[in-house]
Amino acid sequence: MISSGTTSARSFEQIVRGILAAHLGPIHADTAVMSASRHLGVQPSQLTERDRDALATALARPLRLYLDETKVRIVQREITNARVVDHGFASAGEEAPMRPVEARIRVEDDVIRARAEARDLAARVGFDPVDAIKIATVVSELARNIVMYAGTGTITVRPLVAARGLEIESVDSGPGIADLDAILGGRYRSRKGLGLGIAGSKRLLDSMDVTTGPTGTRIVGRKRVP
Ligand SMILES: Nc1ncnc2c1ncn2[C@@H]1O[C@H](COP(=O)(O)OP(=O)(O)O)[C@@H](O)[C@H]1O
Ligand SMILES: [Mg+2]
Repeated sequence: MISSGTTSARSFEQIVRGILAAHLGPIHADTAVMSASRHLGVQPSQLTERDRDALATALARPLRLYLDETKVRIVQREITNARVVDHGFASAGEEAPMRPVEARIRVEDDVIRARAEARDLAARVGFDPVDAIKIATVVSELARNIVMYAGTGTITVRPLVAARGLEIESVDSGPGIADLDAILGGRYRSRKGLGLGIAGSKRLLDSMDVTTGPTGTRIVGRKRVP
């Protein structure tokens, strides 16, 4: 039942914890991982992706402590679909949990949906819950800027392939950002959204590039799993 593969057991454990934390929060996720791995007779750190079916089955009991039956099956399917591959990650069963988030942004509801989807994807990629919330926060700031200043646009969040991480891309055809230098130089105080603004969002990521002009704005940010 337990076998070693060419993939990193630690990364698989992280991915499992990320999936569970997205649904249960980090504390209950820990309880569920401990309980299911004890049932399988291994330490959580010894789990590999070959255990995913057995793990999904073993998680049923602890998951039922916190979730209804429909949710339990959703989480089990995410575990069954979780994959770690040699160079980075990836995955994709039919549910394709590593599929990029591609969100058309027009109204506040779109902002909220993009934020939630970005957080889920970040957890699947292996970000811990705190970093997953940072990713979600950046998405929500950029998406809200689209709604407020550009009208419509798109936010794409895609897994990076060379190493675990995410790229966030925001594109719109709005009027452009008038005083980008002051904003990036910290001389502008954000008042909308969460008050983080573009400058605060940049600090939450490893890098952020802004291209803006009278025909629109494109912002690309990246963050690696630490
Ligand atoms: N996508 C965008 N299109 C046009 N202008 C923008 C866009 N995003 C931001 N801006 C401009 O840059 C300013 C700073 O944005 P931000 O740092 O998010 O702070 P805040 O939204 O709180 O003003 C905004 O007030 C707005 O004038
Ligand atoms: Mg803003």
